[in-house]
Amino acid sequence: MSFSVSRRLAAATALAVAGLLSTTAPAALAVPTAAAAPTPPDIPVANVKAHLAQLQTIATNNGGNRAHGRTGYKASIDYVKGKLDAAGFTTTLQTFTSSGATGYNLIADWPGGDPNSVLMTGAHLDSVTAGPGINDNGSGSAGILETALAVSRAGLQPTKHLRFGWWGAEELGMVGSKYYVNNLPAAERAKISGYLNFDMIGSPNPGYFVYDDDPALEKVFKDYFATVSIPTEIETEGDGRSDHAPFKNVGIPVGGLFSGADYTKTAAQAQKWGGTSGQAFDRCYHSSCDTSANINDTALDRNSDAIAYAIWTLGAGTTVPPGPSFENTADVAIPDAGAAVTSPITVSGVTGNAPATLKVDVNIVHTWRGDLVVDLVAPDGTAYRLKNSSSNDSADNVVATYTVNASSEVANGVWKLKVQDVAAQDTGYINSWKLTF
Ligand code: TRP
Ligand code: ZN
Ligand code: CA
Repeated sequence: MSFSVSRRLAAATALAVAGLLSTTAPAALAVPTAAAAPTPPDIPVANVKAHLAQLQTIATNNGGNRAHGRTGYKASIDYVKGKLDAAGFTTTLQTFTSSGATGYNLIADWPGGDPNSVLMTGAHLDSVTAGPGINDNGSGSAGILETALAVSRAGLQPTKHLRFGWWGAEELGMVGSKYYVNNLPAAERAKISGYLNFDMIGSPNPGYFVYDDDPALEKVFKDYFATVSIPTEIETEGDGRSDHAPFKNVGIPVGGLFSGADYTKTAAQAQKWGGTSGQAFDRCYHSSCDTSANINDTALDRNSDAIAYAIWTLGAGTTVPPGPSFENTADVAIPDAGAAVTSPITVSGVTGNAPATLKVDVNIVHTWRGDLVVDLVAPDGTAYRLKNSSSNDSADNVVATYTVNASSEVANGVWKLKVQDVAAQDTGYINSWKLTF
């Protein structure tokens, strides 16, 4: 919101400088109250790479892979789920059995939007057993994860309901995505207006391939790449070889992006995209060298931005500006190893429920923060744990912003920050805290 406003002002200033706009006409600077379609964000590729680094570490610590039925797969699921839960998504773990082992799909719903019109985005999170699977398919998994986190950061309120999926056992024949689609009641299937798939989007010798299964979805991706002047081709390297196939087979429109696997880049393709002709798009496809070194950052960056562009455009959302905030700056002493103390904030004038992304800024001065248990208490008494005590958290002070899914709480009323010091020797006080709706 503030971005588009400042861009508008910048544009108006440029026009004024160019003599095209009278600087004495204040109406020209008025910002329309009806929010225009929000500008899709530039997804920070560094954040996407940070997720890939985590997936690489998970593989390294779990026998070198993140394959179905192996400990590295479940650890990958836990990592992604933790990020989404903290950002206010409603997550569901779906289990299935394949080859005698438990598999997992992770489904994440962004609260809001039309429940009868769902835009779904997915990626497979499993690797083959041969390696860590960072391009195949850490790349798609991290790209959609960071886009989901950007949805949360923007407070996006799209017209459509947004749902994200991380599939298990794709490498065993799209087992997880087939299981999801097969177990979706017909009425629920009918609500999915489109499914976007991202399987391999950071290939080291990349191509820019767009699925051509549905013309409207294909167009959105082509439009994006046109804005950054990157030529694309239709994806033909094994149509139906990824998780969009089960969706397409039940009549759901599908789209997606792909940067190439074991096919060879032609001279013509190297001419327009750079890279090396006569070499595979991904020489480490399905092998042990598919590590965090097996990523082309530019391809990962462009494709991640394209994902955000597609979701913002197809979700056709509007953002709401950050809601009102309420603060209590009165100090409250926290007795050493004593009873819990509270600091109240009275919220009024906010209609309806609190958001799924209620922000809680906490500032506690303390000589050993590990002693402290901190909760947010809603007006009806429901407590949300912000922080547990920990015997090895030996830093001082708690200066942090927490995001709480408080969508089941009525906003108006007296909220409390509740703090208890559960161990002897160190003391402090609540300095201030703030709620932003
Ligand atoms: N799904 C394949 C895998 O994970 C990769 C792949 C090959 C692919 N061809 C494709 C993905 C075409 C999407 C489109 O091994
Ligand atoms: Zn694969
Ligand atoms: Ca103490």
